[in-house]
Amino acid sequence: QAALPKGHTIRPLSSEDYEKGFLNVLSVLTVVGDISKAQFLAHSHEYFTIVIVSPENRIIGAGTIFIERKFIHNNGLVGHIEDIAVDKNQQGKKLGLRIIQALKYIGAKTGCYKVILDCSEENIPFYKKCGFTQKEYEMAWYT
Ligand code: ACO
Repeated sequence: QAALPKGHTIRPLSSEDYEKGFLNVLSVLTVVGDISKAQFLAHSHEYFTIVIVSPENRIIGAGTIFIERKFIHNNGLVGHIEDIAVDKNQQGKKLGLRIIQALKYIGAKTGCYKVILDCSEENIPFYKKCGFTQKEYEMAWYT
């Protein structure tokens, strides 16, 4: 189990994180766009977003698990991990691993029978180190 670096904390996303660089951290993933504070606050309870906070009180890592209710598998729950992001200058310090560990814990505690995610080929070794195995293929359709 990796420990967080000294002075860092991991906690659920909170309403003040809009001002603490949450959207900036997500920019390592893709174009974030112009998200208003109202849009940021309109977050459903099926989504659990967690953040890592630096000793300087800045958001330097983030990740989300979306809990999906199925009709199949006895109305079971599936967790979808989305948008794992670690600030460029903070990568390689096991912060990503800690985010995934926390999201897996949330998935298990909310009763998901599995937790899945899509990633690029270059991130496969990272997710293998986080305990995931490769299955199926991702398909996409853009409007
Ligand atoms: N290739 C090989 N190994 C890797 C890679 C990689 N690309 N990335 C991490 N690892 C290894 C590390 O070396 C480490 O191994 P070790 O335990 O043997 O030392 C282990 O995986 C854990 O790595 P962390 O230090 O926790 O990784 P980091 O904090 O840098 O987070 C992440 C990884 C999230 C991929 C980060 O680099 C990042 O934000 N990248 C840009 C955005 C991105 O690609 N996000 C994931 C999109 S997929 C999704 O969101 C579902």
